[in-house]
Amino acid sequence: MNKSIEHHPVRLRRSVLSVPADNARALAKVAELAADAAIFDLEDAVAPERKVEAREALVQFLTASRPDCEIIIRINAIGSDFGQGDLAAALSANPDAILLPKVESPADIQAAADWLAENDAPETLRLWAMIETPRGVINAPLIAEAGRTFGGRLDCFVVGLNDLRKETGVPDRPGRPHLVPWLMQILLAARGGGLDVIDAVFNDFRDAAGFDEECRQGRDMGYDGKMLIHPVQIGPANERFGVEQVAVDEARAIIAAFAAPENTGKGVINLNGRMVERLHLDQAVTLAAKADLIEKRKARS
Ligand code: COA
Ligand code: MG
Repeated sequence: MNKSIEHHPVRLRRSVLSVPADNARALAKVAELAADAAIFDLEDAVAPERKVEAREALVQFLTASRPDCEIIIRINAIGSDFGQGDLAAALSANPDAILLPKVESPADIQAAADWLAENDAPETLRLWAMIETPRGVINAPLIAEAGRTFGGRLDCFVVGLNDLRKETGVPDRPGRPHLVPWLMQILLAARGGGLDVIDAVFNDFRDAAGFDEECRQGRDMGYDGKMLIHPVQIGPANERFGVEQVAVDEARAIIAAFAAPENTGKGVINLNGRMVERLHLDQAVTLAAKADLIEKRKARS
């Protein structure tokens, strides 16, 4: 079994839609959308004077109805005026995960994990972390290690490029040439900690071609999915971060080959003239599991 399977089961996180918690129409819309995950946002998408109201509306909404997708609540920084109240509200709304903004060191993860432990949060409640500041990028490897400690709640990084551009002065350019080194650093750190990792939002939601290009880039960099701001981005993200049929067929052939009696106990085999090792079997198992999840998701919608 490879590390990611050990750490957590394979999950679909191709499309991760941000939904402002104070937007009742947007909240109501989520149930009819095909996003793999929804991040209900109490942070940047909500103005300070509406934060408390948004928090209450969100708890009410999630108590009354639960959209059929992974449910994440992004809270305000724990040290901010709203942090503790947000944590308590989030816990009461029973999400799959709480997303911490602007995480800069392992201590930020520990503070949240400690609070959750002290408040009897179920072990199934995960933590996600936004990596979106210079210190967050620099410390990403240390933060990712928290995936193996502090109760092991840390599950996923989400990259925040709007904040990172603001903090560093790197402009928004097609192809993100000067951001790619950081994106790859974050990817490597996440994988080192056994975490999933989600690419940043694409702001110009009417630019379908530009969005598609950026999804391809994120996928080719190894990202699991993309954080989204608008429903039009869901279909294309599901497509680009999904699995290709040829790859699924190949994965199933590898699994079948290693399961054949003549290959029992072999570390490496010849599959139609190609060397295939057990590490490829691990990859094939993960890919086939993802393909199964996509099929199940399609059948539900
Ligand atoms: N989640 C759920 N539904 C959304 C949505 C979202 N993020 N964004 C838009 N919608 C819905 C709208 O409510 C509307 O539905 P309706 O016709 O039933 O009212 C429909 O999709 C079409 O929306 P549209 O008119 O094209 O956009 P808008 O002007 O209402 O909203 C934004 C544009 C950018 C303000 C909005 O998409 C948004 O708030 N996105 C998320 C921003 C965010 O979370 N930022 C923080 C993280 S970066
Ligand atoms: Mg941000």
